Amino acid sequence: MKRHHVLGVIGGGFMANAILRGALAKGVLSAEDVLVCEPSEERRKAFSEAGIVVSSENRDAVGCDYVLLAVKPQTFPAVAEALRGETFPPVISIMAGKTKSSIRSATGAATIARVMPNLPCSVGAGMTAVDASELEEDARRFVLGLFFSVGDVIETSETELDAVTALSGSGPAYIYLFLRALIAAGEEQGLSREQAQTLAFQTMEGGLKMARTSGKSLDELIAAVSSKGGTTVAALDVFRAEGFEQSVLHAVDAAARRAKELSR
Ligand SMILES: NC(=O)c1ccc[n+]([C@@H]2O[C@H](COP(=O)([O-])OP(=O)(O)OC[C@H]3O[C@@H](n4cnc5c(N)ncnc54)[C@H](OP(=O)(O)O)[C@@H]3O)[C@@H](O)[C@H]2O)c1
Repeated sequence: MKRHHVLGVIGGGFMANAILRGALAKGVLSAEDVLVCEPSEERRKAFSEAGIVVSSENRDAVGCDYVLLAVKPQTFPAVAEALRGETFPPVISIMAGKTKSSIRSATGAATIARVMPNLPCSVGAGMTAVDASELEEDARRFVLGLFFSVGDVIETSETELDAVTALSGSGPAYIYLFLRALIAAGEEQGLSREQAQTLAFQTMEGGLKMARTSGKSLDELIAAVSSKGGTTVAALDVFRAEGFEQSVLHAVDAAARRAKELSR
């Protein structure tokens, strides 16, 4: 007898792995609740070893309570074409730039949640935005629970997802770029790479912890590090003169515009 699964995953790659690892660890799903459809035998084997049922046939996912679409956006048209005529359960899509309307016209799915997770989901510290506006309350709770198992979650409308993509989707790269620049600057000042990295990483973590927990605004925190005529002010003056905040504004705007273009 065929087992019934709660979640059918189409595309068992990097993100599916991260989400399922979190959901299993947090008890949101058990291994037998999940079916992963994935063409790579090697990847199927890895899921099997975790007790997850696998298939090379995407059609099997459509019989589950929910389908998670976790293939690359460029693979999606072929995946949908091969499933033409199937009746889809509620669909959860993490595909960047694929709108609900394009997913609906390709699959005929009646209800679709669009989700934008980010890379740190793979270490349980993700930031995910969810548009679950079409889902019934139980389904909405299921989707939120799934992504809370790999980090934090906010609910947004679909129209806000381009901005989300530009901020938290691409955002990890901005953080890495800033850290890389800070480390290089430390080395330029005579520190070893290792020293500069330790200082930069912990400064980022400590700064973030204070931003989250001190109850002070970001302006108050900047003021707390900036004594008149001191070192911080000297650095901040250069950041301002060289248009750091404008540069961030323009970079996020460029990412949002690109997200919009890609979802056409
Ligand atoms: N990575 C991120 O940080 C991130 C963040 C937000 C959203 N996303 C979205 O998440 C989705 C997955 O990204 P990812 O990074 O996990 O990509 P990925 O690692 O390439 O995963 C996609 C998986 O789909 C498989 N696949 C290819 N053709 C298939 C088919 N016809 N049927 C079923 N599975 C098929 C691929 O197998 P093969 O490799 O063997 O082809 C691969 O295992 C993308 O749509 C992306 O836009 C990713």
